Amino acid sequence: MKTESFEARDCLLAELADGTPVLFRPVMPEDRKRLVAGMTQLSADSRYFRFFTPLPRLAEEQLRYFTEVDQHNHVAWIAVNPILPEQPGQGIGRFVRRNDQPTVAEFALTVIDAAQSKGLGTAILAILYLLAWEGGVCCLHGIVLPENRVVTTWLARLGAKTWFAAGVYEVELPVSRDISCLPNNPSAERFRSWVERMSGLRGEQVVHSR
Ligand SMILES: CC(C)(COP(=O)(O)OP(=O)(O)OC[C@H]1O[C@@H](n2cnc3c(N)ncnc32)[C@H](O)[C@@H]1OP(=O)(O)O)[C@@H](O)C(=O)NCCC(=O)NCCS
Repeated sequence: MKTESFEARDCLLAELADGTPVLFRPVMPEDRKRLVAGMTQLSADSRYFRFFTPLPRLAEEQLRYFTEVDQHNHVAWIAVNPILPEQPGQGIGRFVRRNDQPTVAEFALTVIDAAQSKGLGTAILAILYLLAWEGGVCCLHGIVLPENRVVTTWLARLGAKTWFAAGVYEVELPVSRDISCLPNNPSAERFRSWVERMSGLRGEQVVHSR
């Protein structure tokens, strides 16, 4: 099973399993205020899991780094409420290619607490996966705190290799155009389903979650 092309410039309107509409689009410099507001919607645990410290707010330099991205070496997409687009972002995902090995990229995901556990993280990861494949990235590498068992378990179910080193878990999710090589389990099936439905879509087409 091969995925179709997925252009980095597109935005995508989707519906989560509970019917919540979400607009996914590339991060822009104008999203700075959405990130500032989004940080206030994260619990201390979520901020700790994402930044390895319960960082209260993002510094100017971090805001610039997270929003002024070239969408090639640093790819970042945001999920917003399409009905109230001025609200804080619901979730965000990014990957940054390694300088010395541009086919490997470091990835990170965040979903605001009120929107967690509804499939949004899976959808954002599916977008990163498609963009990685399109950009010639063959491996998404991440670092996860040992306390963040939800994420290490989830990623392992998606076929990521995980190992413990220097007090953290490293995870490596292989990126393949042939998504039939994803494992056969319900988590991977949900992920595969998002990848399939998002691939080849352009503009504001609606994708329904299964
Ligand atoms: C990790 C994160 C992005 C997942 O977002 P999400 O919208 O909750 O993701 P989903 O709803 O698609 O769920 C993804 C997996 O997590 C599991 N999960 C989500 N919330 C959970 C909870 N409260 N308890 C147990 N499992 C949970 C889901 O069951 C799913 O796993 P499965 O497919 O094997 O069942 C979100 O929890 C988050 O932002 N956490 C804080 C930052 C962080 O840890 N980032 C990752 C490291 S960079």
